[in-house]
Amino acid sequence: MTATPGLILFFVLTALGAGVGVTAGAKAEEARHFRLSVPPEVAESGVMAYLLPRFALKTGRRAELAGGAADAVLSAEAAGGVPVMVRDGTVYVLRLTGANDAARRFSDWLRSDVGQRTVAAYRPPQGAPFGRAPKVEATAARVIEGNVALGRAVAERHCARCHRTHDRDSSSGIGSTPSFPALRALPDWSVRFEAFFVRNPHPAFLRVEGISPPFDPASPPAILPVALTPDEAEALLAYAASVAPADLGAQIEHQ
Ligand code: HEC
Repeated sequence: MTATPGLILFFVLTALGAGVGVTAGAKAEEARHFRLSVPPEVAESGVMAYLLPRFALKTGRRAELAGGAADAVLSAEAAGGVPVMVRDGTVYVLRLTGANDAARRFSDWLRSDVGQRTVAAYRPPQGAPFGRAPKVEATAARVIEGNVALGRAVAERHCARCHRTHDRDSSSGIGSTPSFPALRALPDWSVRFEAFFVRNPHPAFLRVEGISPPFDPASPPAILPVALTPDEAEALLAYAASVAPADLGAQIEHQ
């Protein structure tokens, strides 16, 4: 389903045009222009007028805001797009409709750290500011190496003692310890899982071979120590990526 044409604002960012038009014979390869459609409230917010010149400056690619047939469609309907920004609890996703290279560059730029920072830096004259897209999705889009099946096995063996490791798992874990689905719902879940072994309480009983320092002989682990290989630690991250995030509602809080 495409966005309802009636909801789309038609206008061209003439300030960006600089006399360069989309020539009739322009091919998808090496495209320097693309057509972008955005919902009315996004057009009205001015955020695109803020983002597009910065994107153009960085890449030499220009966008034309348009309705109807567009190369990239920003919408609040989550189907088939990558999250690029949020506002007032609404997640906006960007969907590419074809192979326009400039549109792909825009999608990449918008999801990059610089693009996300630019989104968050814009202060609309009215209404709520935009925020970064949930990192959850951005991270899922990047390839996480590692063996999910191995990760699950390691999690069940070593982590389920304290953590509930997936949402259908009600037998394991201890109440005060955050569950993997709950952690997975945090925007920075991947940072937490990449470095869980240096974050308390884990260094007291868990080591990743060749990475963690040895246990302090003066305070040996109080529970059966866990030794993981770097591959197992990597696999845990891949497993965490596969865990369905808990629905924590509006307030996402880490205990
Ligand atoms: C002995 C109990 C125990 C075991 C075993 C354990 N954890 Fe934890 N873990 C905790 C507790 C308690 C916290 C919460 C710490 C806090 O909030 O300060 C935690 C927090 C975390 C966090 C969040 C870290 C952060 O900074 O927010 C991650 C990720 C994590 N654990 C991963 C793992 C993985 C992966 C394993 C298995 C290899 C594991 N844990 C095994 C007790 C445990």
